[in-house]
Amino acid sequence: MKNYEEEYWASRSKNYNGTNWVKNDSFMDAFLSLLPTDIYFKNVLEIGIGTGAVAKELIKRVDKITGIDISEEMMSGIQNPQINTKVADAHSLPFGTTSHDLIYMRNVLHYLESPIKVISEINRCLENNGYFLFSQVIPFSDKISKEYDWLINRNIHYPTSREIVDLFRNFSIIEQSEFILKSQSVNNWLNNTCSDKDIKNEIVLRHKKTSPDYKKMVNYYEEDGDILIDIKHLLLLAKKI
Ligand SMILES: C[S@@+](CC[C@H](N)C(=O)[O-])C[C@H]1O[C@@H](n2cnc3c(N)ncnc32)[C@H](O)[C@@H]1O
Repeated sequence: MKNYEEEYWASRSKNYNGTNWVKNDSFMDAFLSLLPTDIYFKNVLEIGIGTGAVAKELIKRVDKITGIDISEEMMSGIQNPQINTKVADAHSLPFGTTSHDLIYMRNVLHYLESPIKVISEINRCLENNGYFLFSQVIPFSDKISKEYDWLINRNIHYPTSREIVDLFRNFSIIEQSEFILKSQSVNNWLNNTCSDKDIKNEIVLRHKKTSPDYKKMVNYYEEDGDILIDIKHLLLLAKKI
């Protein structure tokens, strides 16, 4: 039987690729361009591979990728023979110590029960000097963290950049940057991630009720029955020390 998280991702899997950010080329380029170009990675692992949007791009640069995810349905459309998928929980990675030279993870952290445990599992599975490439949506400023969690209305905490950097204490951070997805449609996000009409309406209402500070930071504006906002991501390249 599926647990709550597995059910949740199974229900989101069909529409997942319809959310604008998932396949956004500039975002993908900004993320993958952090990787060093003078290293050929042999044992590559993606945590929370989802529908394989990142792996489908990265596989152009490496021979094979293994991806794990708690949701079989999310991974069901990945057909590339060079991308191996496995149902597994990031809190307990089914791989040996120092088994990988590159591990990466995009927009998974806010769904994890214990981010500390997952980062320590990633550290364990990385070889010494192995790389960890990471990306995570973050509130525009640490100051509006509470408002951001309320606004998204999913009973989850979106980690701040400070909380994230703190998780990387057993790594050396090689590069850190921010990437802003401009004018993202709230309707597009809700139509592809939420099937409950009442919850959708509540989230739209909450966006309208946000503080002037928030609205200014995210360049909030309403157009043709939609709300457009900027979304910020933290990008990190770190090395196991
Ligand atoms: C927002 S999606 C990101 C998918 C992909 N990384 C991307 O950038 O398109 C989050 C993914 O994390 C997976 N996930 C959530 N909790 C997980 C866990 N504990 N272990 C492994 N995967 C998990 C979900 O099933 C989902 O596919």
